[in-house]
Amino acid sequence: MAEASATEPESRDRGSADRGSTDLGSADRGSADRETAGRQTAGPEAANPEGAGPETAGRERADDAVIATRALTKRYRGGQLAVDGLDLTVPAGSVFGFLGPNGSGKTTTIRMLMGLIEPTSGSARVLGRPMPGAARTVLPGVGALIEGPALYGFLSGRDNLLRYDAADPAADPRTRRARVSAALDRVGLVAAAGKKARAYSLGMKQRLGLAAALLQPRRLLVLDEPTNGLDPQGMREIRALVRELASDGTTVFLSSHLLDEIEQVCTHAAVMARGRLITQGAVADLSAGARGRLVVTTPDPADAARVLKEQGAGDVVAVEDRVTAEPPDHDLAEVNAALVAAGVRVRGFGLERASLEDAFVALTGEGFDVAG
Ligand SMILES: Nc1ncnc2c1ncn2[C@@H]1O[C@H](COP(=O)(O)OP(=O)(O)OP(=O)(O)O)[C@@H](O)[C@H]1O
Ligand SMILES: [Mg+2]
Repeated sequence: MAEASATEPESRDRGSADRGSTDLGSADRGSADRETAGRQTAGPEAANPEGAGPETAGRERADDAVIATRALTKRYRGGQLAVDGLDLTVPAGSVFGFLGPNGSGKTTTIRMLMGLIEPTSGSARVLGRPMPGAARTVLPGVGALIEGPALYGFLSGRDNLLRYDAADPAADPRTRRARVSAALDRVGLVAAAGKKARAYSLGMKQRLGLAAALLQPRRLLVLDEPTNGLDPQGMREIRALVRELASDGTTVFLSSHLLDEIEQVCTHAAVMARGRLITQGAVADLSAGARGRLVVTTPDPADAARVLKEQGAGDVVAVEDRVTAEPPDHDLAEVNAALVAAGVRVRGFGLERASLEDAFVALTGEGFDVAG
């Protein structure tokens, strides 16, 4: 929702954001380097007052990155290392997918980005300013939906939004009703707007949370699992909405544990596993990093499988008229010619595009459903 604090019932750690005096950005650029060498941790106490540190390379990087973290780390009090040395760069104008299995540290990262909890060490900049130090200036430009928005059950959906907007000092009361109606319309809640929020389904609550994030134009939207609880139609609608917002120039940072969702909507992605960043970059480049499988369609699968093995293909699997394999390193035109020369009747020959899941498996050597 608009100010992350309002969506988060457990925002007790937010004290420093309100004190507004820590600049984790400039102070921890140094400490991050120390940490790589010696794994020391520097708490936020080590930070300089905001604006006092030299704004040099970090500022340049932050100008084109809407979110930039450096060695961002969170160890919960119980000892759980939830986020471990995260260097994340979210380019302006991207739809950035923050991908990882359950428990990989996505929500923890988002809470740090929104100033809801303090990092154990490392730094984060959002819209070019250090968080949590600059929360007051940064958060009005950010619409956030974080794990289950806090709603008043006894109020209707529309009244929840009106009340929420009224609590935002930056919101213009004269346009309030119109903005609330427009937001309800955008998330497909007009028909259910008069219903009490306690009677909302999970998906309806999720939509209402999204509507709250859309009450004002934002430079950045941070959406933690925005399609959680939505039916397939609802998921499609949210994807369309995200694309629409992105085409208006809003940077969208969304977390998901659904690989295909990220592939469908995101221009860029970062993949987390067990609190660590596995990879990040343009989605097309990430999937290209993993090689797709060679697929041959033929009425002669046994012969095709034999020739493919002779050609150096690995993991050859023949199912009915479809033979797939890991492609050999040499030119695929030669492989095709070898099949034809051996009398194999080739009906189809091509590379199946690698998915993000292939990339994930190639990078981690494990399936995507690992628990953190
Ligand atoms: N308040 C907390 N206190 C202690 N440990 C926590 C707390 N919140 C999260 N954790 C732990 O930190 C790790 C990362 O949790 P986090 O909620 O960030 O994961 P996630 O990627 O958002 O998972 P999901 O996909 O299930 O939402 C998990 O091992 C979790 O158990
Ligand atoms: Mg989460």
